[in-house]
Amino acid sequence: MLNLAILISGRGSNMEAILKAIKTEKIPANTAVVISNKPDAKGLEIAKKLGVKTEVVDSHDFKGDRWEYDKKIIAVLEKYNVTPENGLVCLAGFMRIISSEFIKKYKNRIMNIHPALLPSYPGLHAQRQALEDGAKYSGCTVHFADEKVDHGPIILQATVEVKKDDTEETLSERILEQEHKIYPEAVRLFALGKIKLKEN
Ligand code: GRF
Repeated sequence: MLNLAILISGRGSNMEAILKAIKTEKIPANTAVVISNKPDAKGLEIAKKLGVKTEVVDSHDFKGDRWEYDKKIIAVLEKYNVTPENGLVCLAGFMRIISSEFIKKYKNRIMNIHPALLPSYPGLHAQRQALEDGAKYSGCTVHFADEKVDHGPIILQATVEVKKDDTEETLSERILEQEHKIYPEAVRLFALGKIKLKEN
């Protein structure tokens, strides 16, 4: 069975949506561990309540070398048997850039969610970028992570209409609702072996 790790930094609402879907929709995946780079991430409490093991790999002292930090994450993945052969790593609001070494080791087994229709508006404040640009539609994207930030083969997207009176908060809220649908669905498809990659 697929062995899942979820990496978070904060609120953990996407993590929660995935964990709940695994239970209710009987996705054939075992959530091995939730890892946070921040000791005070709210999501850690939610994971514990849902009976999932948690680990903190504090990134506070790792400002520089990404690979040095990622090696510590990989050691935790190995401890919980989340391997490049049987594993899936879901980045769910994990606020760090992943090293190319980590990406290569877990090639096409690291997923990310981004609150915009990639390739539009990568990076921080994607919802604000859409509003400032006067976009009529935005949304969210689940993709496999590659060496570039918020980039890589797209798995699922959901579109959200931008309303005239939207603020960053209201737009973010409606996009988040969609995130909570497409991220668990992408995990489900992966667990069932239904995602096939053909040149991106
Ligand atoms: C989400 O909007 C996600 O798309 C972005 O960071 C946010 C994380 O929210 N990458 P949460 O921690 O899952 O609630």
